[in-house]
Amino acid sequence: MTRIAIAPSILSADFARLGEQVAEAGAAGADRIHVDVMDGHFVPNITIGPVVVRALRRATHLPLEAHLMIAEPDRYVEAFADAGADGLTVHVEGAIHLHRTLEAIRGLGKRVGLALNPATPATTLEDVLPELDLVLVMTVDPGFGGQDFIASTLPKIRRVRELIDRTRPACELEVDGGIHPATAPLVIEAGARVLVAGSAVFQDPDGVRAGMERLRMTATA
Ligand code: DX5
Ligand code: ZN
Repeated sequence: MTRIAIAPSILSADFARLGEQVAEAGAAGADRIHVDVMDGHFVPNITIGPVVVRALRRATHLPLEAHLMIAEPDRYVEAFADAGADGLTVHVEGAIHLHRTLEAIRGLGKRVGLALNPATPATTLEDVLPELDLVLVMTVDPGFGGQDFIASTLPKIRRVRELIDRTRPACELEVDGGIHPATAPLVIEAGARVLVAGSAVFQDPDGVRAGMERLRMTATA
């Protein structure tokens, strides 16, 4: 059985109790913490910056992955690396000199991630896959938590899986957006191995532990 990793997204957490919420997710078996960084330009929402990553770094031993939904990521990768992120994921749609951006992340000693919006084809990856530790296939348009899963991304997840298996098997395949117990089996069947989940973990009416358990039960491959 392939192990499926769960990366709770703090976007749906109670920010007034962030440290506590992350600790709860960790105690319930989270494999890493997903930190959604939004700038109000690349996406129509504003969230957090390096200062929060720095605070989280002191609050948890779990790996922190920063999902940078920002314009001009080159200007900020160093700040997020210094703040203690373990992995930095940039968007192919937001990076003009993508190769340079990916090299900068590698040069900072961080895990290199590349995200694709739902409308961006898998073929975009072909020339950069050797540089990557993680591909993030967005299963909603980025910007907000709690959106509906876009089912037409499933064939793309399959294509990305094939590409990774063929050319860079060590690269992780992560999905993000609308992942909950009903959609998790679909993305896993298509080839995803890391699930980002915000509302399914932090908005479960029975609490974070219950949310994590429900997701974990369906997340097998
Ligand atoms: C969306 C973010 C996601 C978001 C997922 O722009 O990148 O990480 O938090 O939230 P859910 O799991 O609620 O769709
Ligand atoms: Zn995200």
